[in-house]
Amino acid sequence: MNILGIDTSCDDTCAALVKDGNYLLSNIVNSQILIHHKHGGVVPELASREHIRNIVPVVRESIRKAGLTIKDIDAIAVTVGPGLVGALLVGIYFAKAFSYANGIPLLGINHLEGHILSIFLEKTPPPFPFVALTVSGGHTNIYHVRNFGDYTVLGQTRDDAAGEAFDKIAKLLNLGYPGGPVIEKLAQEGRSDAINFPRAYLSKDSLDFSFSGLKTAVALYFRSWRDHQANEANISVADIAASFQSAVVDVLVDKAVAAVDRTGVKSVILAGGVARNSYLRNKMQDIMAEKGIDLFASSPEFCTDNGAMIAVAGYHKSCRGESENLTLDARSRFPLG
Ligand code: KG4
Ligand code: ZN
Repeated sequence: MNILGIDTSCDDTCAALVKDGNYLLSNIVNSQILIHHKHGGVVPELASREHIRNIVPVVRESIRKAGLTIKDIDAIAVTVGPGLVGALLVGIYFAKAFSYANGIPLLGINHLEGHILSIFLEKTPPPFPFVALTVSGGHTNIYHVRNFGDYTVLGQTRDDAAGEAFDKIAKLLNLGYPGGPVIEKLAQEGRSDAINFPRAYLSKDSLDFSFSGLKTAVALYFRSWRDHQANEANISVADIAASFQSAVVDVLVDKAVAAVDRTGVKSVILAGGVARNSYLRNKMQDIMAEKGIDLFASSPEFCTDNGAMIAVAGYHKSCRGESENLTLDARSRFPLG
């Protein structure tokens, strides 16, 4: 079964073809980074306009690269939320038209489920049940995943998402957008223990996250450092980046460990844009290995937004006999589990 997966939830126009829920035929991502870069973040109106311009060529390219024709496509899966409504609507209306014109089922997908199921594009997928840590620009969530379609949220961010914190701190440090990759690169030259930024663990048993206090602490530190550089000569911007990164990663790793202890699972998966971060991947790997837990991390191309993960989720939805009709609409907020 060949499924065309579409994602236009934020600033990437994505289309992919996946066979039988795990075999990747093509994966096309048109990034809008150059457009949003000069604004230091995603401008929703510009994102929608770019999606409109790109959706048809991106889908065409995904079909061509897969070596298929439209007749070979069995269903179309599209992200319905969470995300920017104007951006989501471009993908949704495209998918409705494609489904109607070609007489194939339409499958509406939760973007967060897509991030979790991206792990099934890997050669060795995890066995159920597992804990999923999904960290991206819009979300920081921990789930207990028992099966396809069976998710319980164990923790989520109460304010900024981890990726959003990376993006905001990069903007503050004048490093550009998106912040994650530039902070990761700069942090390699810095000392992660140079500054002891706060780690917010919230209440004792909470698996929720909060990164806004850390963001404020870094902003206050940076302003004072910039104004009194002579007194802080032993601290570099790279030290600030590395110390910030390690504060985020410590909390992510500790909460993932707590989720494993609470659920008793033997496997953890790491997904979402921030999961591209090698410092996070390595720390998770070390700590889970110490605990005898298997870590499964999505490949970098499947961490950031892509249509393949949406096609995987669509395949399993279709296997459950579910599909949507043409009233399908966007959902800016769409909790999973
Ligand atoms: O999953 P994604 O493509 O989009 C959302 O669903 O939000 O994630 C994008 C986020 C951005 O905030 C970006 O700064 C972050 O992922 N990111 C990273 C890295 N690469 C991307 N964060 C930390 N380290 C990275 N290497
Ligand atoms: Zn995402």
